[in-house]
Amino acid sequence: MPERAAIILAAGQGTRMKSALPKVLHPVAGRSMVDWSIDLARRVGCQRIVTVISPNANVLREHVAAAFGDNASAVQDPPLGTGHAVQAAESALSGFAGDVIVLYGDTPLIPASAVEALFDELEAGAGVGVLGFEADEPGAYGRLVTSGAGELEAIVEAKDASADELRIRLCNSGVMAVRAERLFRLLANVTNDNKKGEYYLTDIVGLARAEGASCKVVTCREADVMGVNSRAELARAEAAFQTRRRGELLDAGVTMTAPETVFFAYDTIIEPDVLIEPNVVFGPGVHVRGGAKIRAFSHLEGANVEELAEIGPYARLRPGAHIGESARIGNFVEVKKTRVGKGAKANHLAYLGDGDIGQNANIGAGTIFCNYDGFLKYQTRIGDNAFIGSNSALVAPVRIGNGAYVASGSVITENVSADALALGRGRQTEKPGWATNFRTQKAAEKASKT
Ligand code: UD1
Ligand code: CA
Repeated sequence: MPERAAIILAAGQGTRMKSALPKVLHPVAGRSMVDWSIDLARRVGCQRIVTVISPNANVLREHVAAAFGDNASAVQDPPLGTGHAVQAAESALSGFAGDVIVLYGDTPLIPASAVEALFDELEAGAGVGVLGFEADEPGAYGRLVTSGAGELEAIVEAKDASADELRIRLCNSGVMAVRAERLFRLLANVTNDNKKGEYYLTDIVGLARAEGASCKVVTCREADVMGVNSRAELARAEAAFQTRRRGELLDAGVTMTAPETVFFAYDTIIEPDVLIEPNVVFGPGVHVRGGAKIRAFSHLEGANVEELAEIGPYARLRPGAHIGESARIGNFVEVKKTRVGKGAKANHLAYLGDGDIGQNANIGAGTIFCNYDGFLKYQTRIGDNAFIGSNSALVAPVRIGNGAYVASGSVITENVSADALALGRGRQTEKPGWATNFRTQKAAEKASKT
């Protein structure tokens, strides 16, 4: 198999986003659009990935450099069209003789299978492979002009198209596969003699046909090639991702009673036989194992949930929450950087941060791990089978031994030994008849004043 490289076009200005942030750094499903393209390039085996950026996109250059080092971006200055943008990546790919895939930085939902199919066309002898789709409204998209024999003859931009060509509904997604040598050789012959006065990447199809090479179209769904130019389109891309992911998870054996109200991140892993109730949001980094229940109105990010655990309703799992098998995290419980042991329970109203909770421990309502002194964070460790009475404040660093009890309403500042009872509260006293005397006295006082 020839080596593979990707060129990701991201030098457009993205003015319609009305944002200080470069367009391709806006997230879809918790991951920036350019990272979607980079991830796609990696998944199809591209060893070299060059992102074409505009000269003033410092944040974007640094973002790409953080992933791949300084040679990962090429500057296009000024932007003279998609063909010109690809040429800007030529020197970064000098010496590369394999297959190139051109991707856009603002088109996040392309399936890897579509790109693999394009590379397959090259391996089967095609000179150029283009990813196309049947558009509901072809509008401004480039049209794919095909011949009867399934051959792609040319791509015509809407502005340059004839009335007949405008009726074609098979459109260009922008994704194109070409061997590097042919790509840069043909691009050198592309002119800007067209309505937009731009150097069109799409012109290489006609040039490849003129030199006798075959050009092939691979198709995918319109929703998979949705490009983002505005906040409204960003929201549409998000919605398209969510619709696709919900469908995949339902097919994979996840139960959702109202899937349209459940939101996933790009990397959410939900195993078969998980139940997800309505109105649940998954941020990045969540893995939920089989048989777990995620109940309504819960928010999870950076969390692991083991088999048969039950989360919510109204629970919040933050990064580093690890909820053990059959454990229960109930309403208004927040868990951060804390391992909750097998079968342990925190059913109501608690903050569990920077801790470790043993198997079958019971954390009462209103328990707070006081983990922070304004400067540093400290650990709270609770042993197996320990019982923390309601409304206890555990001032970290602190350890509660296996099987120990903490009395309700305690403020615990010292370690508690295994199987002990710790009380950290004022002792209750009682004054018989006090209330009667108080009322009599106060009533007399009030009467003397009126
Ligand atoms: C392009 C295609 C069109 C296709 C459509 C799909 C061409 C000539 N046209 O049109 O056939 O249907 O995409 O969305 O290729 N970019 C640069 N530098 C430039 C110009 C563009 O980096 O000088 C980048 C943009 O940031 C963007 C991508 O290339 O990521 C596409 O550019 P855009 O101007 O949106 O192309 P379209 O005119 O929509
Ligand atoms: Ca566009």
